[in-house]
Amino acid sequence: MRKKIIAGNWKMNKTVLEAIDFVGEIHDDIDTSEVDVVICPTFLALSEIITLLEDYQSDIKLGAQNMFYEEKGAYTGEISPNMLYDLGVEYVIIGHSERRQYFGETDEIVNKKVLKAIQVGLKPIMCVGESLAQREAGDTFDLVRNQVIEGLKKVGKDQVQEVIIAYEPIWAIGTGKTATSEQAEEVCKYIREALAEMYGSAVANTMRIQYGGSVTKDNAKELFNMPNIDGALVGGASLKEDFVSIVNYNE
Ligand code: 13P
Repeated sequence: MRKKIIAGNWKMNKTVLEAIDFVGEIHDDIDTSEVDVVICPTFLALSEIITLLEDYQSDIKLGAQNMFYEEKGAYTGEISPNMLYDLGVEYVIIGHSERRQYFGETDEIVNKKVLKAIQVGLKPIMCVGESLAQREAGDTFDLVRNQVIEGLKKVGKDQVQEVIIAYEPIWAIGTGKTATSEQAEEVCKYIREALAEMYGSAVANTMRIQYGGSVTKDNAKELFNMPNIDGALVGGASLKEDFVSIVNYNE
């Protein structure tokens, strides 16, 4: 049985103080007994939130929203994976469609980041997904498959199990237009088949594949009941109390 993993991607929202307040509000109600729960605040809040979660003796894990693929050096403005790991960050979102769209991240860059994250000891949440135009052109499966293959290039069989894949159709992000659970399952299943071709089915069956895109407290349970959907990467709804209901979807 794969353990579900539900991660809140706060994107560029919440100041440090707002982040601290929010974690204070929700931590006690979040049940981590059967689900891995990750929050990904702004870089600026990571340090404070780590301390806070320790004080609360909470099992909520911390993730970063991005990282650079070099460990140190003259890269003004970048954050290195070692800096994150050192702080106690466990997960890192890599290749979110917003990074691909606004910051020019290619599959090649995504792959470099995934390799470096693993090397340093961070668990990558690697995002893939098609635009509306690509879906309408019938390109979803080929595109997503290619993103998985390119993003995981040179990632070995013994390392890949640390990687989480997040299937996030771009047309469903922040639009309120969730993929139906059947649409999401269909692609997640296809991703698992691609992983099985690359790494064998035993490995593919242990890997966790999330769905992301307008996940709410009302649709989470149905999505999570699908056989190949192992959790979610939640944007907007992770900024509110609703995140508690999403995490505790089985209660
Ligand atoms: P929304 O849940 O706001 O649609 O965002 C999804 C997302 O991009 C998570 O990474």
